Amino acid sequence: MSNQDKIKQLIDLRAEAKLGGGAKRVEAQHTKGKLTARERIDLFLDEGSFEEFDMFVTHRCTNFGMEKTKFLSDGVVTGRGTIDGRTIFIFSQDFTVFGGSLSETYAQKICKVMDMAMKVGAPCIGINDSGGARIQEGVTALAGYAEIFQRNIMASGVIPQISAIFGPCAGGAVYSPALTDFIVMSKDTSYMFVTGPKVVKTVTGEVVTDEQLGGAVVHGTKSGVTHFVSDSEEEGLLLIRKLLSYLPQNNLEDPPIARCEDPIDRLDDRLNDIIPENPNKPYDVKDVIHSIADSGEFMEVHRNYAQNIVVGFARFNGMPVGIVANQPAYLAGVLDINASRKAARFIRFCDAFNVPLVTLEDVPGFLPGTAQEYGGIIIHGAKLLFAYGEATVPKITVILRKAYGGAYCVMSSKHLRGDINYAWPQAEIAVMGPKGAIEVLRSKHIKGLPDDAARAEFVAKAEAEYKEEFANPYNAARYGYIDDVIEPRNTRFRIIRALQSLATKKDSMPAKKHSNLPL
Ligand code: HXC
Repeated sequence: MSNQDKIKQLIDLRAEAKLGGGAKRVEAQHTKGKLTARERIDLFLDEGSFEEFDMFVTHRCTNFGMEKTKFLSDGVVTGRGTIDGRTIFIFSQDFTVFGGSLSETYAQKICKVMDMAMKVGAPCIGINDSGGARIQEGVTALAGYAEIFQRNIMASGVIPQISAIFGPCAGGAVYSPALTDFIVMSKDTSYMFVTGPKVVKTVTGEVVTDEQLGGAVVHGTKSGVTHFVSDSEEEGLLLIRKLLSYLPQNNLEDPPIARCEDPIDRLDDRLNDIIPENPNKPYDVKDVIHSIADSGEFMEVHRNYAQNIVVGFARFNGMPVGIVANQPAYLAGVLDINASRKAARFIRFCDAFNVPLVTLEDVPGFLPGTAQEYGGIIIHGAKLLFAYGEATVPKITVILRKAYGGAYCVMSSKHLRGDINYAWPQAEIAVMGPKGAIEVLRSKHIKGLPDDAARAEFVAKAEAEYKEEFANPYNAARYGYIDDVIEPRNTRFRIIRALQSLATKKDSMPAKKHSNLPL
C-alpha cells in the first residue's frame, strides 16, 4: 500500500466509524427526537476541542453469529475535550449500534476515559442512551458494568461526575448514573428504572408506561433520582456546561472565581420588608436568594423535588457557593424525609469539592406524624445533621425568621461548626413556637380556667409574653451563638465579607477509614 493509500484508508475508516450503526438507524434516532452520540458531543464541547479515543475498537463476541456484525467504535464514543477552555473527559453511548448496548470492549473504552479523568484530575461526563448489557455477550457485559461502577466509586469525591440520560437506562445500568454526582434527564425521550413495565406487570400486576414508571418528570418530582429535567437534549447539555462553571476540576482545587459586575455592597431595601408581620404567612425564599446573589443568578438543583428546601449554586463576588434554604412558601419550610436527604446530599457534594455553604434558615421544625416516623425521619434527618457537622468548607448561616427546636441545631448552627452565623431582627430562635410552648407549659392552668373566653385571653397573653421573651435573635446572640444581628437589606455585603474572611479556613475531621453516615 502506498503512503497515499494508507492515508486514504485512515480517512475511510474514520468516516465509517462516524456513520455509527448506519444512515437508517441514525434516521430512526432523529425521528424519535434524539440526537446521535457524536452530535451530542459536538453540541456539548467547545468547538473543535474533541479528541476521540478508541475509534477503531470493535467487539470480540462470537456468540449468536456476532462476528459477522461489527461496527467501528462498538457503540460508544469516548474522548477528551474542553468546556470553557477546561479539560473534561466524556463518553457518549451510541444507540444506533446494537441499541447502545454495553459489551466488554465498550466498557473498556469507558473505563479508559474514567481512568484518564482520574489521573488528570478532570470531570467525567457520561451521556447515556442504551439498551443495557449486550445480551449476546452475557457475563463479560455484566463484568463491564461492574468495572464502571467500581471506577464511579473510586472517583466519587475526587472528580465531578455528571450523567445525562437521553434515552433508555434500565436494569443494573441505572446504577452508574446513580453513583455520579448529578443526573440530567431529557423530558419525553429518557427513562430510568431497575425493572421495566413488562416485568412490573408480571411480578406485581401493576400496569404502567415507561414514562409513568421512570420518566424524567417522575424522577424530577417523586423519586429525586434526577437533579435536573431538561425540555430538550440541547438544553440538558447547556445545563451541564453551566453546572461545570461552578465546580473545580477536582477535590484538590478551589472552584473557579468568575468576574463580578454586581457591586458587593449593593443594598436591597425590599429585604427589610420581605418577612410578613404575621409569622404564619409565607414568602418565597428564592426572592431572597435572587436578591443577594451576584446578578440575581441562581442555578437550582432538584427544583421540583422536596420543594420545602431549596438547594443550588450561586456566586458572591464571583465566588461559587452552595445555597441551602428552607422554603416557607412550601409546607411552611418544614424539614421532612425528602428535604433532609436532598439537602444532605447537596451539602456533602459541596464539601467534597470545596464549595462554601450559605444557609438561609426559616424552619418551623421537623414534620410530625406516623408517615414520617415510619419512613425513618430520625435516620434521614440525621443525615442532614451529619452532613453539616462533617463539612469543613466555610459555612455561613443567616436565620431569616424561624429556627425552632432540633431544626435550629441542624441547620448549620454554631454548634455544628458553623463559622459565621447571622440573624435578621425578625428571627425567632427557641425550642418551639409560642403556641406549642404555652400548651406544654401552661396546660394545667388553662384547663382550670372557667370558660373559653378566659382561656383564649390567657393563651393570647401568654403567647405574646413568650414571643417577647424567647422568639427573637437576642437570646442566642447573648450566648454568642449568633455572631451578629444584621439588617436584611445588607445581607449580600455581610455574606461576601464573611466569605472573604473565611477564604483561608482550614478544618478537618479526625483520621478514620470513613464515617458511618446514618444511611
Ligand atoms: C443487544 C440490543 C439490546 C441489548 C437493544 N438492542 N437492546 N442488542 N443487547 N441489551 C438492539 C435491538 O436488537 C435492535 O437491533 C436495536 O438495539 C434497537 O432496539 P429496538 O428494540 O429496535 O429499539 P426500541 O424499540 O427503541 O427499544 C429500545 C429498548 C429495547 C427499550 C432498549 O431494545 C429493549 O428493551 N432492550 C432490552 C433492554 C434490556 O432488558 N436490557 C438488559 C437490561 S439488564 P437491530 O439490529 O434490530 O437494530 C442490564 C444488566 C446490567 O443491563 C447489569 C449491571 C449490573
